Amino acid sequence: MTAPILETPHLRIPRIGLGTWTLRGAEAQQAVEGALAHGYRHIDTAAMYGNEEAVGAGIAVSGLRRGDIFVTTKVWWTELAPDALRASAEASLKRLGLRQADLVLVHWPAPGMDLPATLGALDRLRRDGLARAVGVSNFPAGLLEHAIALGIGPLAALQVEAHVYLWQDRLAALCRRHGLALTAYAPVAKAKVNDDPVMRAIAAKYDASPVQVALAWLMAQDGVVAIPKSGRPEGQRENLAAASIRLDAEDLAAIAALPKDRRLVNPDFAPDWAA
Ligand SMILES: NC(=O)c1ccc[n+]([C@@H]2O[C@H](COP(=O)([O-])OP(=O)(O)OC[C@H]3O[C@@H](n4cnc5c(N)ncnc54)[C@H](OP(=O)(O)O)[C@@H]3O)[C@@H](O)[C@H]2O)c1
Repeated sequence: MTAPILETPHLRIPRIGLGTWTLRGAEAQQAVEGALAHGYRHIDTAAMYGNEEAVGAGIAVSGLRRGDIFVTTKVWWTELAPDALRASAEASLKRLGLRQADLVLVHWPAPGMDLPATLGALDRLRRDGLARAVGVSNFPAGLLEHAIALGIGPLAALQVEAHVYLWQDRLAALCRRHGLALTAYAPVAKAKVNDDPVMRAIAAKYDASPVQVALAWLMAQDGVVAIPKSGRPEGQRENLAAASIRLDAEDLAAIAALPKDRRLVNPDFAPDWAA
């Protein structure tokens, strides 16, 4: 089984990818190997995760052609000055053992960052072939709008926290209007959905798990990609299979009625989310 592909003006990206945050060393390599063997074709990592070598090793032993796997990595927010950004991306590629990433993202905006300079350096990665496409992560709507308005090369994706308990219409609309894929991180709300009676009742109808229903709800949104993390083969299989679940209108409405302001990832360096 492989995930359906989202096609945008700038990307062809599998709609379910493997998140790798917290996976390290041999565990990360095995998770990537197992996921690729099972049909995953999209892996999400970051310089900050400390697992790029292991992710790269998992890709290398998969035997798959490079062009068949979509790999995202990210540049940490302390490295956004142009020279530092370039050095970070080059170091990521070296650790991954790749000549080019499919997508390089600014991981978080930095307070007081020189946005045009950072976006210029990001776009140079694309023009110089280190990244097929570039984008940003954790940008609130106002900052994303500003970044798009600067017009410094195409932004192909926005990666933000999004799940049945957190959804931002303004961000989603901006992404749709400007052709960015919206990649949902923490898409199964870190498995909290498994304890939710609404999600459990819907899951029972489809002979599925609440985690699968959470992913199916994201798949029902236009232009959305999800990167659930599971280190377990059964979890990975379950998450990929969720792409084939079609929720009916009643279930979509019941999930839409759940609170949509529950943010799970909010470190002290996070931006003002209302900005
Ligand atoms: N851009 C950013 O700033 C940012 C921030 C956070 C995350 N991310 C990316 O997004 C990815 C996903 O986010 P996340 O890892 O925070 O949260 P998540 O994918 O919503 O949840 C991961 C948790 O859910 C469990 N889980 C996953 N599938 C399951 C299943 N089918 N049944 C039961 N439990 C399941 C996992 O445990 P098991 O491993 O035991 O299955 C893990 O504890 C990250 O790995 C990372 O790649 C990006």
